[in-house]
Amino acid sequence: MTGSNCAIRGTFFDFLDDPWKHIGQEKEAARFIRDGLLVVKNGRIEDFGPFTEVSARHAEMAITHLPGRIIMPGFIDGHIHFPQVRALGAYGNQLLDWLQNSIFPEEVKYNDRAYATEAAQHFFTALLSGGTTTCQTFTTSHPVATEVFFDEAAKRNMRVIAGLTGIDRFAPADVVITPQYFYNESKRLIETYHRKGRNLYAITPRFAVGCTSEMMDMCRELKKEYPDCWINTHISENPSELRSAKEHFPDCNDYTHVHEKHGLLGPKFTAGHGVWLTNDEMRRFSKAGAAVSFCPLSNLFLGSGLFRLGRAKDPEHPVRLSVGCDVGGGNAFSLIRVLEEAYKVGMCNNTMLDGSVNPREQDLAESERNKLSPYRAFYLATLGGAHSLYLDDILGSFDPGKEADFVVLDWNAGQAAMAWHQSLAAQSAGPETMDAAAQLLFGIMAAGDDRNVDETWIAGQRLYKKGAP
Ligand code: GUN
Ligand code: ZN
Repeated sequence: MTGSNCAIRGTFFDFLDDPWKHIGQEKEAARFIRDGLLVVKNGRIEDFGPFTEVSARHAEMAITHLPGRIIMPGFIDGHIHFPQVRALGAYGNQLLDWLQNSIFPEEVKYNDRAYATEAAQHFFTALLSGGTTTCQTFTTSHPVATEVFFDEAAKRNMRVIAGLTGIDRFAPADVVITPQYFYNESKRLIETYHRKGRNLYAITPRFAVGCTSEMMDMCRELKKEYPDCWINTHISENPSELRSAKEHFPDCNDYTHVHEKHGLLGPKFTAGHGVWLTNDEMRRFSKAGAAVSFCPLSNLFLGSGLFRLGRAKDPEHPVRLSVGCDVGGGNAFSLIRVLEEAYKVGMCNNTMLDGSVNPREQDLAESERNKLSPYRAFYLATLGGAHSLYLDDILGSFDPGKEADFVVLDWNAGQAAMAWHQSLAAQSAGPETMDAAAQLLFGIMAAGDDRNVDETWIAGQRLYKKGAP
């Protein structure tokens, strides 16, 4: 990998482990260095730790000091749609109608290279200004959209996962493609783009409603030929979608069975949403090493439902989880806003679990796991997301050897709602303890947004500075 050299001094916050494994002692999963130094060579982390120790080892390097900020690993978005930039915020429909009325008519335009290229500028600008440095994205069923996506990501040297979107029914004629065409073009794109620079390829069956068994078989074939590739899809998002999937795959016991039957469920498989997954399906995801991307902005915007976070984090059968904005089903790119909504979903789940309000069996342990503390939230957006995508060996924390993508957060971004949190930090030059930093991070996710992202760095190079032209 190519990249830049730099040495950044400031206050750092990252994770070494999953905070859900440290209930009551979440701090043990995190790392806070009030005055630290991050040394980057050729885009990779060369050294990291307390300033006094690390600076002594790198006397030759010019240091960039970023006081008054919290520096975290770049945010990882596990589920987003590149061709839905211009469809964000479409009014009034739930999933299946929304796809027909707002999404397919827009995606068809991505057969045009110029249209797709212009959208890519907006897409990457929006990601970087929200602090997102890696995404796993859908493109469209037109190969040119995938080519544009990878070419534009490479210009920015970003670590991304994407692939040609397979759909052979339930869409207009200029959106559907045949399984054979999908197979041929996926193969060509994999050979052209996979592991070229920081690009990674995901075999992408859109969802069971839009994919025949023949299309799923092509995905199985591709995975067999290219086992190093990822698989990206949607699952159990909306009740009408679930009914439709059941009708189309009558021999499958549930939605997850469709992917099992076609040999897809396993490591490096991610399905967006999973709102209506049963306990048994979650157990099978866990066992297979497959991941769900939790997309609360979208699940609420499209009225899909409340993802059962605490159930997914069952310590007996934990499911690998990322968070995703799912633009345009989600109505913002910002993972900070996604975390805010994820927190609210956890809170609502706990009302559902409360036996006095709802006659469901009460499960106190599950309700505790539903609570999205700042440790859990920012873990999901960083190391947790990397873990879910099997990228935690190269992304997600400041461990030496990893790729140097990071975000510089400003708690004092001017939002009136954040005055209380800002005043806590203003009493000093910034948070002095891990708890104080976590409180500030919770303030950012509860009342902040992309205005709290001051800078975003990719492979040791600053690609975004708030307010800069
Ligand atoms: N299921 C199939 N396609 C889509 C999509 O574009 N967005 C969402 N949210 N769900 C889907
Ligand atoms: Zn989606």
